[in-house]
Formats: sequence, structure tokens, C-alpha cells
Amino acid sequence: MTYVVTENCIRCKYTDCVEVCPVDCFYVGETMLVINPDECIDCGVCEPECPADAIKAETEPGMAGWKAFNAKYAALWPNIAEKTDPAADAAAWDGRDGKLIEVFGAADPAAA
Ligand code: SF4
Ligand code: F3S
Repeated sequence: MTYVVTENCIRCKYTDCVEVCPVDCFYVGETMLVINPDECIDCGVCEPECPADAIKAETEPGMAGWKAFNAKYAALWPNIAEKTDPAADAAAWDGRDGKLIEVFGAADPAAA
């Protein structure tokens, strides 16, 4: 079991999540973070910390594609264990529809 980072992290990147993770399993790309599903211990403490409500349990509906997305990019991006400044225009992007296709060019996270 794991938690996953989903679409609303894109271009918000608040990074409150990394501060509470006991196993430092967040990885950082240019526009968002992901969780390594093989390292996450399913403690759930990061979920309520995200101001963008972007972290979900993999057991929630529709999360299979996001789990694949998190696994793919966790293997490609560097680890992040300390909070950084959010994206400069985070407030403008928070809650916006269509961020996955706009930034990653795919409608389905499993294909991104
Ligand atoms: Fe880290 Fe726990 Fe969140 Fe998994 S659920 S990413 S172990 S804080
Ligand atoms: Fe992203 Fe939320 Fe963490 S916006 S960086 S998942 S606090």
C-alpha cells in the first residue's frame, strides 16, 4: 500500500508533504513531486499536510494510473527531504483543471 501524489500538485509544489514523511520517499520534478510506492510505509501523515489536497491513498477510486505515474517518475527524479518555496504562481494553479495534459501532454497519468 502507498499514498500517491496527484494532478493538483502540478505547478503548486507546496512541499509541506516532505517535512512530515518519516522515510523521505518524495521525489521532485520541475513542476511537481511524486512518492516512491516501494518506499512509502503507508503511514498517511502526509495526506492532510498538502494545502492542494493532492495526496491520496492508492485505495481511492482512480488511483491505479497515478500509482504508475508516481513509480515512473520516482525512478527518474531526485529525492527531496526538505521544504522549499512553492511554485511562484502556485495560488493561480491550485485547483485548475487540465494540468496533467497541459504540462505532461497526457490525459491519462499512466500514459504520461
Ligand atoms: Fe511518507 Fe507516510 Fe506519506 Fe508514505 S504515507 S509518503 S511514508 S508520509
Ligand atoms: Fe505537492 Fe502538496 Fe506536496 S502540492 S509538493 S503534494 S504539499
